[in-house]
Amino acid sequence: MKRPISRRKFLERTSLSTAGIALSLSGAKSLYANLAKKADTPAILGGTPVRTKPFPSWPIYDDKDVEIYLDALRRKVWSEYNHNETESAVKFERKYAELMGTKFCASTNAGTTALTAALCALDVGPGDEVIVPTNTFVATAQVVFNLYALAVFVDSDPDTFMIDADLIEERINERTRAIMPVHIGGGAADMDKIMAISKKHDIPVLEDACQAHMGEWRKKRLGSVGHLGCFSFQAHKSLTSGEGGAIIGDDEALMDRCIAYKNNGRDPKRKRVYTGSNYRMTPFQVAVITGQIRRLEGQISHREKNAAYLERLFEDIPGITQCKKYPGQTRRGYYMYGMLYDKEQFNGLPRRKFTQAMHAEGIPIRGGCDTLNKDKFVEVYLNMRHFQNLFSKERLAQYWEENHCPANDVIDEETGLIFGQQVFLGTKKDMDDIAEALVKVRKNAKALI
Ligand SMILES: Cc1ncc(COP(=O)(O)O)c(C=O)c1O
Repeated sequence: MKRPISRRKFLERTSLSTAGIALSLSGAKSLYANLAKKADTPAILGGTPVRTKPFPSWPIYDDKDVEIYLDALRRKVWSEYNHNETESAVKFERKYAELMGTKFCASTNAGTTALTAALCALDVGPGDEVIVPTNTFVATAQVVFNLYALAVFVDSDPDTFMIDADLIEERINERTRAIMPVHIGGGAADMDKIMAISKKHDIPVLEDACQAHMGEWRKKRLGSVGHLGCFSFQAHKSLTSGEGGAIIGDDEALMDRCIAYKNNGRDPKRKRVYTGSNYRMTPFQVAVITGQIRRLEGQISHREKNAAYLERLFEDIPGITQCKKYPGQTRRGYYMYGMLYDKEQFNGLPRRKFTQAMHAEGIPIRGGCDTLNKDKFVEVYLNMRHFQNLFSKERLAQYWEENHCPANDVIDEETGLIFGQQVFLGTKKDMDDIAEALVKVRKNAKALI
């Protein structure tokens, strides 16, 4: 009698083999040849696309999320500012600190405001300098400039897309008040090197972990390695409350300042003894994240499995490689997944044409990276009278002279490729489709130029 096949087994058997490829991963050497055999006219030239089905959408919610949200509405506590154990935000903070392995957490209404509060707690202000990567979301630099401090850009490591830790020290001077590595996409910056520089120069590290929920460095959560760490819970992040953020840390005095800063400077007894602003998370944001956090670990491990499978497929597709990881990265978070494109392996096909062809096949891959050092906003800040007054002509001239990030320019213009985190939330078959489209485009690269 035939035994019924489990869903997992079914997926294992059908992925790749449904495409008529009949291949085992141990025999991956035949992958390229097998896929190339069936690769016909690219969709961009009028052929049939590899897929028309969309990848999973984001965010995800169910009836339980709706219930939690409506509870917050019905409770009629629509603002929380007492910072006591009855408040939903404080309950979330306890939970997130535990998950991150830190003593303290301060929730905020955005990642940007988390970074601002953390910088203020570190006493960064007018005339100071802060080291930041160029490949990051604009907020990383904006929060520094908004405090009338100079955001000093450091070039990227071309293999990881992270800040190049070997280039940090040459940008440090007597005004440098913080180093802000960003765990871009969810992978880890080289925290061993960065923490050694921090120690040597006695400069605190504020980790911008806004994209790196649940990532790890030597088994410690990203965001908990430096002196303070910040997260974003904006809608595209792998843990979201629509808008929202958090600061984590172990240093009580520093964290007291963060907790007070986001709550108009109030200490836990509601005395206004600190500097501050209003960056509080609303109970509605807390309700959304309380629903979302139930799925966090499951979603991360699901993405991990799919990414590991795709990486094995990449091994047999010349010209596409996953970004390198530093040895201390024990787990990655998921926001963006970076890959390197080698045009020479695609018959000289420019990356823009490659991504266009992949889109036509139904694969949502993007090229490039952020290049903040070249953005117009830097000039706008530096031309403000405040910056002109706070920094000498010589310092500003030197800033412009040094403000080049050639390795990052190559990632942006030639090598950088990115998938969004939701690409990995689907099935193994989705990964097979990516491999099939890559091989199809590579095989037809000449015709696509
Ligand atoms: C690296 C990085 N820093 C800071 C932020 C700012 O977070 P938010 O959008 O929640 O203000 C983001 C958000 O995309 C980010 O990716």
